[in-house]
Amino acid sequence: MEELKQYKTAVEKSNIVSKTDINGIITFVNDEFCKISGYTQKELIGKNHNVVRHPDVPKANFELLWDTILRKETFKTTAKNKAKNGSTFYVNTTIFPILDKSGKILEFIAIRYDVTENVLLTEELKRKEEELKHLNATLENRVEKQTKQLLDLNRNLEIKVKEEVEKNREKDKMVFQQARLAAMGEMIGNIAHQWRQPLSELGIILFGMKKSFIHNDLSELEKHYIHGKKVIDRMSQTIEDFRNFFNPEKHKNTFYIKDMISEVVSILAGSLTKAEIQISIKARKTIKVFGYKNELSQAILNIINNAKDAFKGKNIKKRIVVSAETMNGFVCIYIQDNAGGIDKNVIDKIFEPYFTTKHASSGTGLGLYIVKTIIENSMQGEVTAENRDGGALFAIKIPIK
Ligand SMILES: Nc1ncnc2c1ncn2[C@@H]1O[C@H](COP(=O)(O)OP(=O)(O)O)[C@@H](O)[C@H]1O
Ligand SMILES: [Mg+2]
Repeated sequence: MEELKQYKTAVEKSNIVSKTDINGIITFVNDEFCKISGYTQKELIGKNHNVVRHPDVPKANFELLWDTILRKETFKTTAKNKAKNGSTFYVNTTIFPILDKSGKILEFIAIRYDVTENVLLTEELKRKEEELKHLNATLENRVEKQTKQLLDLNRNLEIKVKEEVEKNREKDKMVFQQARLAAMGEMIGNIAHQWRQPLSELGIILFGMKKSFIHNDLSELEKHYIHGKKVIDRMSQTIEDFRNFFNPEKHKNTFYIKDMISEVVSILAGSLTKAEIQISIKARKTIKVFGYKNELSQAILNIINNAKDAFKGKNIKKRIVVSAETMNGFVCIYIQDNAGGIDKNVIDKIFEPYFTTKHASSGTGLGLYIVKTIIENSMQGEVTAENRDGGALFAIKIPIK
């Protein structure tokens, strides 16, 4: 009996203990119960045990509890309870029915211990986990969305770049065709110029032939005939020259720079003489390069034509010097005039397509663009312009090999 008492004390000291009668009316509470619930013994004894019931707990839980204990079995649960001050506490609860000798239920005893902190921590943990899950999900979502946006942007950009490149290619093609037409126009002008003198010569020859015919002077007639044939040969040679000049080359060749410059100058000779421009060539005969001769000729012709234009309306001794030299595996060709130089405000733009300071009827603005394209793209060289010695100096630098 003494032992039993000690057990009882041990249980009561270490646990939260209460007893109710068979109807759930409190008949006993220990100090621990009062401490956790905030009620005094007086306030509790005689009341229904549901004073500490938490409104959150579903009815079904209590039904299960009563079912179990009335069947004389032990009921175990973690119960959510409400203290007097309204705060919540959690207790791990075991309820035993106490039976008399005949097996009839006398009362119920509930033994519990406080697990509030545990439950709260677990709940907090669960909440955090939930939050984290949510965050993760939204993050994934956001990353996915962002990635998609970036991909879309990239795709659009690619399309745009493609379109721009296509447009540029079309534009380049057009510019080149126009430039070719412009150069052709210039050429025809040059042919016309070259032919003017032989044509009037032919007129004189014809007149002479008619005279010899009338006078029946056969040897004089023969002289005029031979002269006329020579003139006609020269005229067809001019056409031949221009034709070669215009034939685009398929293959690169090795050619002498000085010969090439001389050919260009001879083609322009007529119009340069008429404009009272003196042109001279200074280069060693032996300088050779490997490349497209006609294209390089075209470039030099364009530059000389510009110089010719720059002299218009100037009352000076007009001179153009074309020179060439080799330098560390490069050939440098210089075209210097004394026409006053390029306007400082536009010198940065002169190689741009369509840039011209001339009247629309005389300038296309394509000449130097062609020069730049030929030198850079076909000859892998570079071309620059500066003002020097009272005029413009164009320098072309191309690799020899
Ligand atoms: N030798 C030069 N002296 C002065 N200005 C020049 C000379 N060469 C070119 N320029 C300037 O560069 C411009 C562009 O030349 P170009 O591309 O050949 O086009 P265009 O001759 O049709 O005007 C010319 O309009 C002119 O203002
Ligand atoms: Mg020009």
